[in-house]
Amino acid sequence: MEIAKRILLSEATIQQRVQELGQEISRDYGDTSICLVCILKGGLMFLTDLAKHIVPPVTFDFIGISSYGHATQSSGVVRITKDLEDSIEGKHVLIVEDIIDSGLTLRYLINNLHDRRPASLRICTLLDKRENRKVDIPVDYVGFSVPNEFLVGYGLDYKEYYRNTPFVFVLKPEYYED
Ligand code: PRP
Repeated sequence: MEIAKRILLSEATIQQRVQELGQEISRDYGDTSICLVCILKGGLMFLTDLAKHIVPPVTFDFIGISSYGHATQSSGVVRITKDLEDSIEGKHVLIVEDIIDSGLTLRYLINNLHDRRPASLRICTLLDKRENRKVDIPVDYVGFSVPNEFLVGYGLDYKEYYRNTPFVFVLKPEYYED
C-alpha cells in the first residue's frame, strides 16, 4: 500500500488479541450483562470483532463525538454529535474505543457518562498511545501500547478512508507533514 510506511499490527495479531480481550472481559463480568458503548467512528471495527468473543449478554449503543481545533490533534473541547439512544442508568457500561491518545476525548466522555449514573463504567481500548497522554485516564482493558506515530486502519482513518483495512499501519510522514 503506497501510503503505508510499515504495518504495525497484522490482521492475525489484532484478531488474536481481540479474542483474548473478549475472554478477559467475559471472565471479569461473569453473568452480568454489559452495555457496550462504541465511540464513533473509530471504535466500530473493534466493537464488532470484540463483541463476538464476549460471553455475557451484551447490548450495543453508539455515541458520536467531535473535537474542535486542529484536525490531527485532540483539543479537549468536544461536543456530542450523536447521543446514546438508551439510558445507561443502573447499567454496566463498557466504553469501546479504538485509540486513546491525549486522553482528552475520554476525559470529557467519562464525566458526561458518569452524570447519567451507570452502575459501573469501564474502558476498553484497542490501542494506547501512552506517551502522548495529557490527562490521566483509568483504562481497564488495553489491546496494544503503540508508539507516537500517525496510525491508520482497523477503524482509524486518514481523511476518513482506510477505516476498513483489517490491519493497522503507520502513515508515511509525507502524507501529513507540510
Ligand atoms: C480519535 C479516537 C479517539 C480520539 C482519541 O477519534 O477514536 O476518540 O481521537 O484522541 P484523544 O485521546 O487525544 O482525545 P477522532 O476524533 O479521530 O474521530 P473518529 O473516531 O471518527 O476518527
